[in-house]
Amino acid sequence: MNSAVISVNDKVVDAPGVEASEGSSGVDIGKLRGTADVLAFDNGFNNTAACRSYITYIDGDAGILRYRGYDIEELAENCKFTEVAYLLVHGKLPDASEQKQFSAFLNYHSMIHEDMQHFFTGLPTSSHPMSILSAMVNTLSSFYPHIMTGDQNFDETAARLISKVRTIAAFSYKKSLGEPFVYPQEDLPYCANFLNMMFCSPIKRYKIEPLIVDALNKLLILHADHEQNCSTLVVRSVASARGNLYAAISAGICALSGSLHGGANQAVIEMLQKIHNDGDNLEKYIRKASDSNDPFRLMGFGHSVYKTYDPRARIARKICEDLFRTLGIDDPLLELAKRLEERALSDDFFIQRRLYPNIDFYTGIIYRAIGIPTDMLTVMFAIGRLPGWIAHWKETFDDGTGKIYRPRQIYVGPPKRPFLSMSDRQGSR
Ligand code: CMC
Repeated sequence: MNSAVISVNDKVVDAPGVEASEGSSGVDIGKLRGTADVLAFDNGFNNTAACRSYITYIDGDAGILRYRGYDIEELAENCKFTEVAYLLVHGKLPDASEQKQFSAFLNYHSMIHEDMQHFFTGLPTSSHPMSILSAMVNTLSSFYPHIMTGDQNFDETAARLISKVRTIAAFSYKKSLGEPFVYPQEDLPYCANFLNMMFCSPIKRYKIEPLIVDALNKLLILHADHEQNCSTLVVRSVASARGNLYAAISAGICALSGSLHGGANQAVIEMLQKIHNDGDNLEKYIRKASDSNDPFRLMGFGHSVYKTYDPRARIARKICEDLFRTLGIDDPLLELAKRLEERALSDDFFIQRRLYPNIDFYTGIIYRAIGIPTDMLTVMFAIGRLPGWIAHWKETFDDGTGKIYRPRQIYVGPPKRPFLSMSDRQGSR
């Protein structure tokens, strides 16, 4: 096992090994401060393991992603989203009776309390769907305060949240259109139910297309977990303080909305549209992206962990091409995205920095084809990520050895200085 002896400030500190079942092991630097009065500094925690986790494994150099030991490719090919949700939350794929029970819970909990509709009415129609989602999920704690954490009952708690988030997302879309809400239906499976709530209206029936349902299942599976990413860290941080599940997920949604994280899928579509409107001038945008003085970045490219093609992006590209071909969909943004990818992957700037398409590069184009509006793309990411967040919340909450998340800092502000009274402050102008 790894272990290290760190010599600093004339002190020798033993850093015992922390063994991984796969991938990088760690060294425990917990004694560094107490013994040598020095902190470990790791900007953005990019080389810090904040916990032990049983949930998801990533090898960023080899492009491997596994949930509970299963390859993402196999899960996306063979499972429904709800099976993967169960897998993440419980650590095993459900057998037939467990799946039946979980689906029954999803159905039973699919409605939201009628009083919650007042909140939708109180929000401006211009509200971003991610802020609505975050506010509504936090509000759920007032309506459904009883969270069952024991293993026996946790799938009901998880199912309630997974089911209601889908209803909240569809209701917020209807609210933005000024159309009446469409209620969930017991006879429709998870993804079909969502599409129906989104696109059915009193004057128009929505024809459920199995290929679209299948694509949606796959996309949600791709989003379902990604170990210690920014929003999951936030969820775990709230859990470490014994914050409730709804509060933690609501905070995770806020973190996910950022454009460097889940918000990138919206940013990709806006970027592609901009390039398209600019005459598909790829060279101009490749130049901008590789100019260190220009803040422009190629959205949907690069990843903190993957230094090769993101395995989720590979699957998403295939889903996109299959769906477009089979349904005869034509979107100039798909052609543009493929050309942009090809151009970037042969460019020295991108090659040297090992920048490849990530999950967000193609998913937005697929959601667009399904009819999801651009400002709801990150909500789709959140619906998919929910089982992962729930699993991480539970893992943190149940961890008897876990500590409250409390990193330190290297203070670089002013040293102690004498207090200035108001008249001294005036005089010092
Ligand atoms: N376009 C142009 N240059 C880039 C990009 C990009 N998309 N991503 C990284 N770089 C450059 C960056 O400028 C830097 O160059 P230099 O070495 O000359 O300073 C170098 O690559 C390393 O960048 P970094 O910001 O230190 O890398 P990071 O690993 O901390 O950042 C990232 C990861 C995802 C924030 C970043 O790649 C990025 O901003 N990508 C665009 C936003 C995006 O697509 N986000 C979605 C991530 S996947 C979904 C999720 O899980 O959240």
